[in-house]
Amino acid sequence: MSASADLWAILVAAGSGARFGGPKHEADLDGEPLWVHAERVLRSSGLEDVVVVGDLPGGVAGGPRRRDSVARGLAEVPDDVEFVLVHDAARPLASPALVGRVVDRLRVGDAAGVVPAVPVRDTLKDTADDVVIGSVDRSSLVAVQTPQGFVTAVLRRAHDVGEDDATDDAMLLEAIGERVVTVPGDPANLKITYPEDLVLARLLRSSGHG
Ligand code: CTP
Ligand code: MG
Repeated sequence: MSASADLWAILVAAGSGARFGGPKHEADLDGEPLWVHAERVLRSSGLEDVVVVGDLPGGVAGGPRRRDSVARGLAEVPDDVEFVLVHDAARPLASPALVGRVVDRLRVGDAAGVVPAVPVRDTLKDTADDVVIGSVDRSSLVAVQTPQGFVTAVLRRAHDVGEDDATDDAMLLEAIGERVVTVPGDPANLKITYPEDLVLARLLRSSGHG
């Protein structure tokens, strides 16, 4: 095998899509499945080595939880690859500019993880059933996106040790005390979670995003 590039990407495209109503990586967005859009963003950002996880041509099999799917992708990344990006197939509208921000920040070398973050827009409430207990100060709160970038060896360690129920990889690093930093995310980089999100994605594409 030839020497590996120092940066690979894992694109997770497995899962049941319970909230969407079925596996969504194959859902059509302007004539192509979501995972194809997501992979193209990675490749047009200069990534040559992309491990696709999911029941797809050229894909490796996914696992029961998102973190299991990432772990299966990680098993395909050679040991000498220094950095790895993890991206959701459900985010077809990431941009090369966003990928570049994550990679550039990762290469600064003072953090093991980098996540794109956007300020929370809504007013947040703490509740018990339907009763409001109080409001949550949102000034320091952000919503995080993918792609997330990691020092590969630290991500491997985090996966070996970390949290049981993690909806992103940064949570696994946090659980073992590793430093994770943010870069500005992109509000247009929405995640397709519910069927109506596809409508918004089409609109964003028609106005030049993705
Ligand atoms: N994913 C995966 N393997 C899993 C679960 C999720 O590869 N076992 C991927 C999905 O393909 C998606 C990303 O992780 O690109 C984010 O997950 P999410 O939006 O939660 O997808 P699902 O888990 O499939 O949806 P739901 O939570 O509604 O069931
Ligand atoms: Mg899920």
